Amino acid sequence: MTEPSVVPSPGGNGERPISVLFVCLGNICRSPAAEGVFLHLIGREGLGPAFLVDSAGTGDWHVGRPADPRMRHAAAQRGIELPSRARQITADDLTRFDHVLTMDRQNLRAVRALTRPGQTTARVGPLTSHCRRFSVEEVPDPYYGGEEGFDRVLDLLEDACAGLLEVLRPRG
Ligand code: 4NP
Repeated sequence: MTEPSVVPSPGGNGERPISVLFVCLGNICRSPAAEGVFLHLIGREGLGPAFLVDSAGTGDWHVGRPADPRMRHAAAQRGIELPSRARQITADDLTRFDHVLTMDRQNLRAVRALTRPGQTTARVGPLTSHCRRFSVEEVPDPYYGGEEGFDRVLDLLEDACAGLLEVLRPRG
């Protein structure tokens, strides 16, 4: 979790930040990379304080671990740091976060299974719906593949996160 230093509103006039949670299966490859890419984009524009950004996994195998070294290496080559430690998503995240963005269909099903009628307030959907250059429905799991899979993930995430920022960008 990257806590904002100030707490401005989504509109930038002194209320609360816009909260965004990226979700994959293990929370060591795709969603920490999405978190890092989005933090990088907002940091570059001085929008860090306007957002609260985090990531989580639907599984618990890697809880407490930093992002996979292969993912961190690929991201570092683009000047992007991945600060997260893995944690498992909970039903409370669907109340705490404004936006929950999943990487693939399996993640989306698992997150939807956590929704509680009348309590869940987060908007849940696939991150790839924000892609502009790529026409894909999922960010593929790179865990069991080669180096090129990690670069492909970052290409998709840079596109999707830029599109997401255009939708969420505080105005005013
Ligand atoms: P992620 O990748 O969901 O992008 O973090 C994976 C990481 C670990 C495993 C699967 C996917 N695993 O089976 O341990």
